[in-house]
Amino acid sequence: MNNGVFRNLSYGVYIVGCKYEGKYTGCTVNSIMQITSSPASIALSVNHDNYTHKCLEETKEFSISILSEKSNPLAIGTFGFRSGRDCEKFEIIPYEIVDNLPVIKDACGYLICKITNKIETLTHTVFIADVLNGDIMDDKTPMTYSYYHNVIKGKSPKSAPTFIND
Ligand SMILES: Cc1cc2nc3c(=O)[nH]c(=O)nc-3n(C[C@H](O)[C@H](O)[C@H](O)COP(=O)(O)O)c2cc1C
Repeated sequence: MNNGVFRNLSYGVYIVGCKYEGKYTGCTVNSIMQITSSPASIALSVNHDNYTHKCLEETKEFSISILSEKSNPLAIGTFGFRSGRDCEKFEIIPYEIVDNLPVIKDACGYLICKITNKIETLTHTVFIADVLNGDIMDDKTPMTYSYYHNVIKGKSPKSAPTFIND
């Protein structure tokens, strides 16, 4: 098996945001795909160990900030390598509130989602969610996962579903 072949799958880079126990929290994800267009729904894979997993399980609501190539990579690192268990990530990265959920200010778009179903795997839950709202925030090019790796030279932690140990 050549694990390198997984690098040929395409993704974007996103910040999932939720509100849990009165605080905003969330994490970086790449594993989002649109499932249906009418009604619009998406799927998202989240590691069982992530604090965000607990928040999603309990609140069933989240935002997706779609990052652009011009978004500050600090957001990816802050939300992707620190945990909401011991860090208030939204205190570090500028955000605005849409439908009671936090959206990163320099994203190029957002979606507001409500979880309707889930599929369990050994390490990750695939949440299925209806998209209740969404908008384009600017016309910058959305960031792809390969742009993050090849141009920004970013890394992914073990908890990312697409982690490759090389
Ligand atoms: C580029 C990138 C992509 C990631 N994609 C995912 C993902 O799709 N699913 C996931 O569960 N974690 C993913 N992660 C890892 C989480 O963002 C990371 O474990 C985070 O620290 C979890 O924070 P939390 O404990 O506050 O939820 C990714 C991280 C990076 C940097």
